[in-house]
Amino acid sequence: MAKVGIFGAGWVGVVTGVCFAELGHDVVIRDVVPDKIEALGHGQMPFHEADVPELLERNLERLTFTLDVDDIVGCDFLFVCVDTPPTYSGDADLSRVWTVVDELPELSGHPILVMKSTVPVGTGEKVRAGLDQRGLEHVGYASNPEFLAEGTAIRDFMQPDRIVVGAFAADDADAVASLYDKVDAPIVRSDVNSAEMIKLAANAALMTRISFINEIANVCEATGADVVKVAEGIGLDNRIGSKFLRAGIGYGGSCFPKDSLALKQLASNSGYHFQLLAAVIEVNELQKRRVIGKLVRHLGSLRGKTVALLGVAFKPDTDDMREAPSIVLASRLLAEGATVRAWDPVADISKLPRGVEAAATVLDAVADADAAVIVTEWGELKELASAEVREAMRNPLIVDGRNLLDPADARAAGFTYEGVGRPAAADARVEA
Ligand code: UGA
Repeated sequence: MAKVGIFGAGWVGVVTGVCFAELGHDVVIRDVVPDKIEALGHGQMPFHEADVPELLERNLERLTFTLDVDDIVGCDFLFVCVDTPPTYSGDADLSRVWTVVDELPELSGHPILVMKSTVPVGTGEKVRAGLDQRGLEHVGYASNPEFLAEGTAIRDFMQPDRIVVGAFAADDADAVASLYDKVDAPIVRSDVNSAEMIKLAANAALMTRISFINEIANVCEATGADVVKVAEGIGLDNRIGSKFLRAGIGYGGSCFPKDSLALKQLASNSGYHFQLLAAVIEVNELQKRRVIGKLVRHLGSLRGKTVALLGVAFKPDTDDMREAPSIVLASRLLAEGATVRAWDPVADISKLPRGVEAAATVLDAVADADAAVIVTEWGELKELASAEVREAMRNPLIVDGRNLLDPADARAAGFTYEGVGRPAAADARVEA
């Protein structure tokens, strides 16, 4: 079993750390934030992610949390799991990656620095040169991108579709691959540049599918087709596949928006205009705003109207609100003069723009409201089209931004219902 050092006790670092510990490796996680290290050392989680607390508790004796960079001396692998947020220009900010390289202590033997953070293509070559300049030629380098989605991170790590390892030396690739011996998954080996591109391209492909199905949904609305049926019908084609074809109010989160900008910027820095990705991003921005048009169509001016935003996290089963469509939606509604009330079972409503009222329950949110908008498809909202909710609302209008409800059921329960890419009431006669 290996000794694995991890830089960064954020979401990726902690998930990676507890999973390697679960696989039997000894893990040292280093961060610069004392509170985080202190809490983790006591088995307390700094964020919400299913199954991580159990793995943390089960493997505490194989996990060390530290503020001291010297504690990673003696590790066979040094994983970089720091944030790479966007800068004003849209490029990825690599300052935290460089801090790790600059702070590496004296190292003996042949430890391998492994990049898990999402970085622009060419970063590995630059870091390699930086290591050499610091007299760390004996330190290996590999790229081993993560494909973890929030809410399913442990499963994504333990049962991945593939593991990607890019390295400058075959021995280093072998060593990194051996860390995953107990994981049953194909290993894609490549050069470092390609491994970096695989990560960016994978996210770009997923976002392209989402913007594609959202545009199909918009055309469905204009022509009377049902995007849910269309997605089913095209998804069963093996060449297309059924995943990531859920139409909605656009993607958000800590990865897609940032990574799409980073890839677009990377291309344009290299003299190439990535036209398709630019369109994917624009479609997503417009998609978030389409809800406003639907509300206006039913309610007229939104000034003085009360709109309940149900779910504000960027997707269910997380409290993460980074780049959540709810933020754009709330701002637009406030700008239109609406009263905005928001509910979410875990996310922090106060992260929405000032002026949004927080509701403790779904019923509080919809009380006397002129419309209820499903922004995040939380399980709690599946029964939204109830008599209780209909009576509580001033006007029983549901705009379902995630196609969570059955349109016929919602209409039968007395609601005016609008989904995304679903036929209007009069056209919705022919059932499946
Ligand atoms: C995403 C990728 O799925 C991971 O593979 C990747 O490792 C990660 O980014 C990352 O780069 O670190 P995540 O952001 O956690 O993971 O969330 P997803 O489940 O992919 O959802 C992203 C957004 O797309 C959400 O807002 C979701 O509502 C939206 N979405 C997803 C749709 O609108 N339609 C779909 O069919 C699927």
